[in-house]
Amino acid sequence: AAATLYEAENGTISQGVVESNHAGFTGSGFVNLDNVAGSSVEWTIQAADPGPVTLVLRYANGTAADRPMTLTAGGTGTTLSFPGTGSWTTWRTATVRVTLTAGANAVKATSTTANGGPNLDSLSVDPSSTGTDWSR
Ligand code: GCU
Repeated sequence: AAATLYEAENGTISQGVVESNHAGFTGSGFVNLDNVAGSSVEWTIQAADPGPVTLVLRYANGTAADRPMTLTAGGTGTTLSFPGTGSWTTWRTATVRVTLTAGANAVKATSTTANGGPNLDSLSVDPSSTGTDWSR
């Protein structure tokens, strides 16, 4: 099956705002997370079957410093790096493999440092075994 895309601006945002001042985002904007540890976006994603999927986070980080986040899915948290992308209009992806249950799953990205998270554009859920079956 193809990947399913969830816009960051449609997630539940805690300590962040939806903005559109840096080009290249999909949908109506991106989430600018506050520059504090604990700022977060949470999505409810649907899985047809239980099992592993690849989460693809599209983001921009116009600074030189990593903006790591904890990705929590299926009750398990993984720390994921969001290194600098060169500019706030240069969007790249970070991926993590997680295991979902059938039906609704909460997926939450939480900033782990005082710099907060990167600007987040979207979350894609790729059910293919290789993690390459996504369209952008
Ligand atoms: C700049 C940039 C924002 C970004 C922020 C940050 O202000 O314009 O989009 O979120 O830096 O450092 O997080």
